[in-house]
Amino acid sequence: MLPIVLLGFVAALVSATTHIVESPCELLKRLLPSEIILRNETRYTEVANKNWATNARRAPSCIVVANNTRSLQEAVKNLTRNSIQFAIRSGGHMIKPGGSNIDNGVLIDLSRLNEIEYNAIGQVARVGGGARWGDVYKALEPHNVTVVGGRLDDIGVGGLILGGGLSWLSSRHGLACDNVVNFEVILANGTLINANATSSTDLYKALKGGGNNFGVVTHFTISTYAIGAVWGGIRYYAPEQFPALISAFSQYQLGPQDPDASIMIQAPLTNSSFGVLLNIAYSRPFADPPAFDVFKSIPIALDTTSIRSYSSLISGASNPDITQLPRWDWRTATLAANATLYTEVYNITTKAPELQSLSQLQSGTFVFNMQPIPVQTVKAAKALGGNSLGLSEEPQVWVQYLMAWWHEEDDHKAYSLSKAIMDRVNQAANKANDSLDYVFMNDASQDQNVISSYGRDNVISMKKVQEKYDSTKAFQELVRGGFKLP
Ligand SMILES: Cc1cc2nc3c(=O)[nH]c(=O)nc-3n(C[C@H](O)[C@H](O)[C@H](O)COP(=O)(O)OP(=O)(O)OC[C@H]3O[C@@H](n4cnc5c(N)ncnc54)[C@H](O)[C@@H]3O)c2cc1C
Ligand SMILES: *[C@@H]1O[C@H](CO)[C@@H](O)[C@H](O)[C@H]1NC(C)=O
Ligand SMILES: *[C@@H]1O[C@H](CO)[C@@H](O)[C@H](O)[C@H]1NC(C)=O
Ligand SMILES: *[C@@H]1O[C@H](CO)[C@@H](O)[C@H](O)[C@H]1NC(C)=O
Ligand SMILES: *[C@@H]1O[C@H](CO)[C@@H](O)[C@H](O)[C@H]1NC(C)=O
Ligand SMILES: *[C@@H]1O[C@H](CO)[C@@H](O)[C@H](O)[C@H]1NC(C)=O
Ligand SMILES: *[C@@H]1O[C@H](CO)[C@@H](O)[C@H](O)[C@H]1NC(C)=O
Ligand SMILES: *[C@@H]1O[C@H](CO)[C@@H](O)[C@H](O)[C@H]1NC(C)=O
Ligand SMILES: *[C@@H]1O[C@H](CO)[C@@H](O)[C@H](O)[C@H]1NC(C)=O
Ligand SMILES: *[C@@H]1O[C@H](CO)[C@@H](O)[C@H](O)[C@H]1NC(C)=O
Ligand SMILES: *[C@@H]1O[C@H](CO)[C@@H](O)[C@H](O)[C@H]1NC(C)=O
Repeated sequence: MLPIVLLGFVAALVSATTHIVESPCELLKRLLPSEIILRNETRYTEVANKNWATNARRAPSCIVVANNTRSLQEAVKNLTRNSIQFAIRSGGHMIKPGGSNIDNGVLIDLSRLNEIEYNAIGQVARVGGGARWGDVYKALEPHNVTVVGGRLDDIGVGGLILGGGLSWLSSRHGLACDNVVNFEVILANGTLINANATSSTDLYKALKGGGNNFGVVTHFTISTYAIGAVWGGIRYYAPEQFPALISAFSQYQLGPQDPDASIMIQAPLTNSSFGVLLNIAYSRPFADPPAFDVFKSIPIALDTTSIRSYSSLISGASNPDITQLPRWDWRTATLAANATLYTEVYNITTKAPELQSLSQLQSGTFVFNMQPIPVQTVKAAKALGGNSLGLSEEPQVWVQYLMAWWHEEDDHKAYSLSKAIMDRVNQAANKANDSLDYVFMNDASQDQNVISSYGRDNVISMKKVQEKYDSTKAFQELVRGGFKLP
């Protein structure tokens, strides 16, 4: 920030008549009385702690709960002009500590910008930056349409889209970010602009994967698709079926592709009472379509699949036993499809000596997650205008380790054990020449270099966009949370 602006801020702190110094939050409170929560207000604690993972929470100096775009523009302008650090939070599901909250700074909470409006003629939905996916699906369901969004109800629209966004509908339609036709954004200077395929096209592309690096997105206009009843749910298998599932997973991925089909394997390794989970989604009302035949011979322990509404498929997917745990980390790697490598990754992960130490942490849970990404997802993204993610156009898997534990004193141990295992996976992938650069922001751990992984050209373009729309680098330097431009 320019020194002259800083001087202006010091002057603003001293009220002309009384010479009493006001804090930035008190100034904001005068600007937007009913939309600022100070620390001494009773609702502060509840709103401050709305981040999903306990270790992601922080104690902001005050919280902006703007209920309209204009107030938020005022707040952003005020914050950037005065060089005040701030955080932006939609659904608060990012697990990176401080990703969407802040100590000694201002938290912008978008939860009151949660309108969901369907435009049947345009076949789009206009959704507030603080809405949650479950509410979006439920609002669109009466119109027999849906959007490409999160796989659980509670996740925020803002963070999921800006990090890419993997949906059950991605096999056919690409990622959530690819399906945004307009981003309504507050820039650092408080100006509200539209970024879309015909206006501010450079910013439009940068926001498709750009996280919180360019502005506060107040509204997303998203393409809608017809949807009726779907088929899917979770099939649970005994832990000893895991190798067979990995092998079927490879066949599924390398076999004929059905764009209606989507799966994910989740294997809790330190708490085997859950067995191995196969999440299945089919976007038409047909039970057991041929796409999933490769799994047919594996005996199922428990089956929740049924023909149901899309919103019921989503709400049926949360696992209350696991999600009660407070502290979380995830970590991700992207591998090109290769059956032998998958078995090697399975070996590395399930036999990792670190799992011993992890299970000694109180209620330490470690989940090994395999998400197949078909070529069609990457092709669809391209056809919809292209994003900034630098995805390789080939079948691939986004591996995710999820970890949960109870106590803060175990944080370091938890992070480093998970990293040690993933490092060996990356070594094996490199050796097989099947390691892909991409790091999925929504599944990444705090130390992973997400934006660098998009590739040199994308990083250069994104930096140009920053120069053009945020020349003072407010979103780089004042908004420290999240994954930043390198
Ligand atoms: C239980 C669970 C299930 C998940 N399932 C999926 C899934 O199916 N698919 C998937 O892709 N991901 C999934 N994720 C990951 C999730 O998408 C990311 O954690 C994402 O960041 C969450 O978005 P949010 O708005 O809730 O997060 P927040 O923590 O509110 O925000 C995340 C980041 O985005 C920024 N941000 C948010 N909104 C805006 C905005 N409007 N303008 C500017 N910056 C903004 C924040 O500053 C922060 O850096 C899941 C996460 C959890 C915890
Ligand atoms: C910030 O808000 C205060 C009101 O609380 C106002 O007096 C001041 O002019 C604003 N500053 C800027 C730079 O917008
Ligand atoms: C909170 O503190 C502000 C000053 O920072 C004061 O004006 C206000 O009255 C206080 N509110 C409550 C509920 O104590
Ligand atoms: C925002 O909140 C204020 C006061 O709480 C209220 O007067 C106003 O109508 C609200 N605006 C919207 C758009 O909800
Ligand atoms: C949605 O689909 C159902 C079932 O086919 C039908 O009865 C209903 O009229 C449709 N609603 C709209 C708004 O098209
Ligand atoms: C794109 O932005 C321009 C300029 O604000 C706007 O007129 C137009 O309606 C936007 N297009 C879409 C699809 O929202
Ligand atoms: C698995 O975790 C749940 C929830 O934390 C716990 O109740 C259960 O006892 C654990 N089971 C095993 C086998 O560790
Ligand atoms: C697949 O991975 C194995 C190692 O697990 C490696 O030896 C082999 O070369 C890889 N094959 C291809 C086609 O990449
Ligand atoms: C995986 O481990 C099994 C059992 O130890 C072994 O037979 C197999 O060769 C290993 N596979 C790979 C690809 O490393
Ligand atoms: C590794 O893979 C890339 C592209 O997938 C290919 O161009 C290159 O030749 C491969 N290298 C080796 C040593 O196989
Ligand atoms: C705000 O920044 C944008 C992008 O740099 C610029 O086009 C616009 O003119 C600026 N608005 C004001 C009021 O300075």
